[in-house]
Amino acid sequence: MLIYFSVRMGKHVHIKSFGCQMNKLDTALVRSALDKSGFTFTEKVEQADVVLINTCSVREHAEQRVLSHLGHLKHIKENRPDMVVGVIGCMAQRLGDKLLEHDAVDLVCGPAQIPQIADLVAGALQDGQGKLAVTERIRQKPPEEQTQALEKFESAYGTLALYRESRICNLQFRIFSPGQAFVRVMRGCNNFCSYCVVPFVRGPEVCRPPAAIIEQIRKLADTGVKQVTLLGQTVNSYKYKSGERTYCLADVLEMASDIDGIEWLRFVTSYPSREFFDPMLQVMAGSPKVCNYLHLPAQTGSDKILRAMNRNYTAGEYLELLEKARTTVPDIAIAGDFIVGFPAETEEDFQATVDLVKRARYKNCFIFKYSPRPGTGADKKLEDNIPAEVKRKRNTELLAVQEKVSNELSQRFLGKQVRVLVEGLSKKPHLDSAESRGQPQLVGRTATDYIVVFNGPQSLAGQFAKVKIARTSPLTLFGELT
Ligand code: 5AD
Ligand code: SF4
Repeated sequence: MLIYFSVRMGKHVHIKSFGCQMNKLDTALVRSALDKSGFTFTEKVEQADVVLINTCSVREHAEQRVLSHLGHLKHIKENRPDMVVGVIGCMAQRLGDKLLEHDAVDLVCGPAQIPQIADLVAGALQDGQGKLAVTERIRQKPPEEQTQALEKFESAYGTLALYRESRICNLQFRIFSPGQAFVRVMRGCNNFCSYCVVPFVRGPEVCRPPAAIIEQIRKLADTGVKQVTLLGQTVNSYKYKSGERTYCLADVLEMASDIDGIEWLRFVTSYPSREFFDPMLQVMAGSPKVCNYLHLPAQTGSDKILRAMNRNYTAGEYLELLEKARTTVPDIAIAGDFIVGFPAETEEDFQATVDLVKRARYKNCFIFKYSPRPGTGADKKLEDNIPAEVKRKRNTELLAVQEKVSNELSQRFLGKQVRVLVEGLSKKPHLDSAESRGQPQLVGRTATDYIVVFNGPQSLAGQFAKVKIARTSPLTLFGELT
């Protein structure tokens, strides 16, 4: 608290973030909380008094990247022993005190403990002692005090984060694009898909009260936010009982649609389940603000592997959901996730996945090689018996199948005009894009999540624009401002 204030003043914090959008949101909240309590920020590790790494545990590769980063920091600390290094997020929760044993690490803070972050950092700066804050019994329902502390933190910094972002960072280092915000609707996950570490690091599902979510979106709209993305591990299973009424995601989307200033609403990630599926599609079809985009991971097209993954549907049922989505919302764009090389995946199982990808006609797919995660059902019971080379081959083959579909779908935009929300400067310049006329290359997204690259004034970041599409590639549309 106040006793530490002098410790914080003028101290420079560098934050590095790995992982998903949930993690990006946590990073923004942490940065906002640290800013509020007197810290300043730097993009240069060499200038930092405090380095925080927000980590991901979903695949081994993500953890290895963090460990190699920690190796680098250990090196820097040899000359700067006062520097405080903190690991936050999923890996902090998974490895706990083991991480504190690492020579570079002074502070370990799990996802549920981020409301304590400013005090933990100040404490470590003050006394040089290791700090550990993680949940002990992660699979139990979190205590009420913890949920309340997170709710308070989220409500306060969830709306401040954006304002602070624009004050702290120049455009390049922003976590969120201008005019956009992420709002968590639920934490944790109850599904226990056999490959997944999330329930073991983020704990059981806890849904936020709809009133708090709506209040947060209203405040964001007041600060000029035009697009809100609702976040949850299985966001379509959002459920909140209040008195006689049970609210589902469709109710939240409907209430959020009534907020002036909010123009686009998105939500990720959905689980292929029939529960609440119809109302969600109905609100998408009925509200012009709810973007016609669905991220619905299938993971595999083999019913045998789906059972082993503990996913509660068959490939046929999954395809039925897609059909329903397309009949209710004809121009819907759908994205998928797949894992290749799950234990005992035969060539025949893999071909079932190829077949599903061909039929699903995704806008794009995220494809991952199976990575055993300690403590998960698959890791305990099944041998990781698909050779790395086979995983790699299947990954490449599936990507090629999807690329063909993506290409066909993109080409349908040729010559058409699309409306995009402009994110900002394009990170990797596309050399052969339309005539520049001295203007920088910008990137935006359509309501259906297509990436659009065009030249225009940087002041368009955070605004809507109309672009006529002149050329397409599988994942990007190129055009000119109209
Ligand atoms: N190995 C590989 N990919 C995984 N995913 C989750 N756990 C694993 C794992 N152990 C993928 C799933 C999920 C996405 C976020 O990451 O496809 O949808
Ligand atoms: Fe990574 Fe999953 Fe944690 Fe997100 S929730 S940071 S994807 S392990």
